[in-house]
Amino acid sequence: MERVVSGIRSTGNLHLGNYFGAIRNFVRMQNDHECFFFIADYHSLTTHPTPNDLHSNVRQVLVEYLAAGIDPEKATLFVQSDVPEVAELTLLLSMNAYVGELERTSSFKEKVRKNPNNVNAGLLTYPVLMAADILIHRATKVPVGKDQEQHLEMCRKYARRFNGLYKTEYFKEPEPFNFGQDLLKIPGLDGTGKMGKSEGNGLFLADSPKQIRKKVMKAVTDSGPTEPNSPVTEPVQNLFTIMDVVSEPGTLQFFQQEYANCTIRYGDLKKQLAEDIVQFVEPIYNRIQELSADSDYLQKIARMGAEKAHESAAKTVKEVREIIGFKKF
Ligand code: TRP
Repeated sequence: MERVVSGIRSTGNLHLGNYFGAIRNFVRMQNDHECFFFIADYHSLTTHPTPNDLHSNVRQVLVEYLAAGIDPEKATLFVQSDVPEVAELTLLLSMNAYVGELERTSSFKEKVRKNPNNVNAGLLTYPVLMAADILIHRATKVPVGKDQEQHLEMCRKYARRFNGLYKTEYFKEPEPFNFGQDLLKIPGLDGTGKMGKSEGNGLFLADSPKQIRKKVMKAVTDSGPTEPNSPVTEPVQNLFTIMDVVSEPGTLQFFQQEYANCTIRYGDLKKQLAEDIVQFVEPIYNRIQELSADSDYLQKIARMGAEKAHESAAKTVKEVREIIGFKKF
């Protein structure tokens, strides 16, 4: 059984792209792996959120992941800052992290380019905190998208250096967990590109049926096929792609055939698509409403997660302190 650790960015508003990307795979993984999923609120401090935003973002993420199917009885779901041991491990690992290589990290360089007025040390050491997140639970696998590959490589390097310095095999180098084919790419409703949070082209798990219908009816299409069997244009293909994941197979085939015959009516396509998306999202949407109103339950879940994560983290930090040579008088 693999030990899996994954950090979740602490900004809410998950969309269908997130769902059919990582989240659905997390939900599957929790059944046959020992999973630690945490809301990365320490990491989020690099952007200086207000105290109110910080907490409400974390709460929203917790609600949405639970609603999407993370089962706190199966996976350890916790808030990063509830387990402050990770801050100590970050300090200890930072002694093996060289400033030059941190400065050369692509994510850091990008942040510097985008926000030249907020180049804080937390941004620079972001990969060290991330390495601590992973190593503190002795993860063997980390689900990573393209943008996090370099960070995982750095984590492996810090594990290696620690082992080398102290002549130990304490840390195993965690491997990337690649979802491969299972990572579906969901396009947006604006005719081109991926669904995103800030692109204004997204369908969110927290969208009501009414909002979903409205957004789908406004989705970009084209002026319609004029010749039989003409190639499907990108905006229409995007709607077909979404249909492929939410609708019955026959539904997609029907509209593809109508397109090929030049008899397709986009209004009908959108109506059907909207209903199928609503059917998919509505149970999650309802669950989000229930959970949002249930502070007691959220508290219980967060405390339970913190306790489980603390146990695993405290053990690692204790062992690492011994390896390093800290001794009690
Ligand atoms: N950096 C990750 C992201 O932006 C989030 C993250 C923090 C993470 N710590 C982690 C992911 C540890 C995997 C493992 O998405």
